[in-house]
Amino acid sequence: MNIHRVEPVKLPTVAALRTRCLELGLAVWNVGPGGDLGPTPTDDLSLAGFLGSPTLRGLLEPVARGWSLTDEPEPVSPVRGMYAIPIRAQTLAGGGRGETLLALALSPTCLEEEWFEVISAMGGLEVRSAQRLVEPMCRHRPESVPALRRTLGWMIDDLARVCDDQVTISGFTRQLTEGFETIDALYYLGRSMNVLSRPREFFDNGVSRLHASMSFGWLAAYFAFEPDAAQVAGDRLLHCGPLPGDPATIVGALRGLLANAPRSGAPVVTSSVPGLPGDVGQVVVLPIVRGERLLGAVLAGDKRGEDPIVSSYDTHLLEAAGGYFGAFLENAMLYARQQAMFMGTLSALTSAIDAKDRYTCGHSSRVAHLSSLIARAAGLGEDAAERLNICGLVHDVGKIGVPEAVLTKPGKLTDEEFGLIKMHPEIGHRILRDIPMLNDVLPGVMHHHERWDGRGYPHGLRAEQIPLVARIVGLADTFDAMSSSRAYRPAMPREKVLAELVRSAGTQLDPALVPLFVTLDLSAYDQMVAVAAPQQPMLVGTQSLPGPVMRPGSIAA
Ligand SMILES: [Fe+2]
Repeated sequence: MNIHRVEPVKLPTVAALRTRCLELGLAVWNVGPGGDLGPTPTDDLSLAGFLGSPTLRGLLEPVARGWSLTDEPEPVSPVRGMYAIPIRAQTLAGGGRGETLLALALSPTCLEEEWFEVISAMGGLEVRSAQRLVEPMCRHRPESVPALRRTLGWMIDDLARVCDDQVTISGFTRQLTEGFETIDALYYLGRSMNVLSRPREFFDNGVSRLHASMSFGWLAAYFAFEPDAAQVAGDRLLHCGPLPGDPATIVGALRGLLANAPRSGAPVVTSSVPGLPGDVGQVVVLPIVRGERLLGAVLAGDKRGEDPIVSSYDTHLLEAAGGYFGAFLENAMLYARQQAMFMGTLSALTSAIDAKDRYTCGHSSRVAHLSSLIARAAGLGEDAAERLNICGLVHDVGKIGVPEAVLTKPGKLTDEEFGLIKMHPEIGHRILRDIPMLNDVLPGVMHHHERWDGRGYPHGLRAEQIPLVARIVGLADTFDAMSSSRAYRPAMPREKVLAELVRSAGTQLDPALVPLFVTLDLSAYDQMVAVAAPQQPMLVGTQSLPGPVMRPGSIAA
C-alpha cells in the first residue's frame, strides 16, 4: 500500500504536435520504419475525405519511403504547390525516438491545380466543397518551406525539452513523495511508541507502513530471538509482500545468519542467505540489537523501481526504523515486566482481602473477569476491558478496613455493622487514590454499590450519574455475590440469579447493561468458581439460614 502514488509522467505526444501543426495549416503523418504512412492525421471528418484520399497517400508514400532510406531527409514537392516536410521526433511519446514524421504544406494556388481535383474526387468530395474545406490550410508559399522546416524543428525541440523537464520533475516528485512516505512511516513509528500496552499492533502496523514506504517487493521482521521479546511481540515472522520462502524457513535462515554475527546492529546487504533460494537477489538484513542482546531483525528483498540495487538510502531508512523497533521492543519488555509485577501486587492485595472471608474466595478475580466481559459486550474496546479487569480486582480493597467479624457474620447485620460495611468503597478509594496507574478505576471503587434508582451508597448517585465503570463492576459484583455461597446463605442457581438481575434492571442495575450480561458466555467464569470451590467451607444447616440477604441498598453484599 503506497500512501501517495506518483502519477506516471505524461509526455507531450505526437498528437499534441499534430494539433499544433493543424492550427498552422499543416497535416502531419507518422512514418513507419519502412516509409509507410500512418493513419489519416485528423479527427475532422470534413478534412478526412481530402487528407485520407488514396491519391494524396499515393503522392506522399514514395516521399516517405525515400526518407526512410536516408539519414538526412529533405523537403520534397511531389506536385506543384504541395510540400512534404520531414520532422524528426526525438523524444515524443507516441512516436518512437528518432522516428520521422511527415508534415504536408499546401500553397494558396494549389486549389486550382489539376491534382487537387483528382485528390478531392478520389476522396469522395466535390471539388468546390473540397476547396472550401482545404482553403484554410493553403497558406504556405514555396519560399517559406525552409523557414517552416526550421520552425517545426524548434517546435519539436521545445516539446522535447518539455518532455525532459517533465521527466526531471517527475523524478523529483517521486523522490519527494518517497521521502515524504519515509518520513511519514518513521513519524508513525515514533508517534506510536507510547502505546506499550499493544506491542503486536505496533509491530504489525510498523512493518506494514515501512513496506509501503520502501521500494522492496517484500519486507519481513522477527522479534523473538529472546523469550522476553517473543512474549511481547509474538514468536512469528511479520511480513508484507511475497516472501522468497515459507516463514519458518526464513526464521531458520535468519537465526543461522545472525547466530555468530557481531552485535553491531549494522545492516548487511547480501545476495546469499543460507537456507533461502539461491536466486533470492539482494537482501538487506538489519539485526535489532540492544547492548549485546540480539532482539530481532528486519529483512527486505526484491528491490524494485528504476534502481534495483539496494542503496544507502534504503539501508539508512531501515536502520532508522530498526532503531524505533528496538527501542520500542525494549520499552515494551520493560513495561510487560512492570505490568506483571503490578498485576502480581494487585492479585496479592485482593487475595489478602478474599482471605478475610473464605466465602468470598476468588470473588475479586471473578468480578474482574465478568467486568471485562461486560465491557467487551458493551463495545468499549480492549483497553477499557483491561481497565475494567483491574477495577474488578480492586473494587473491594476497602474491606481491608472492615472488621473480619462483620464481613463473615452469618445472618442479618445490625445497622451499625452494615454502616461499617458501607464504608469500604471510601476506604478503598483512600487506599488507592495515590497510585497514578489506578486513577481511572477509582470511580469504580468508590461507586460500585450505588444503585440505578439512587438508593445505593456511599453517595446515593442515580442512573447515569453513576460512572459507567462503577455500573459495570456493580453488575458483575451483584452476579457473583448471588452466584456464590456466603456465610449467611447458600449460592443461588444460575436461572434464579439471571432472573433476579433482570428483575433489578432499572431499580438497582443499569437497564442497558443487564440485557448484555444475560448473553455472556460464562464458561470461564464457571471454571473460576470450580477452582475456588474446594477452598470454601461447607454451609451447615443452610436450610435454616435466610435466603439471599437483601441488605439495605443492594442485593449484593
Ligand atoms: Fe463491594
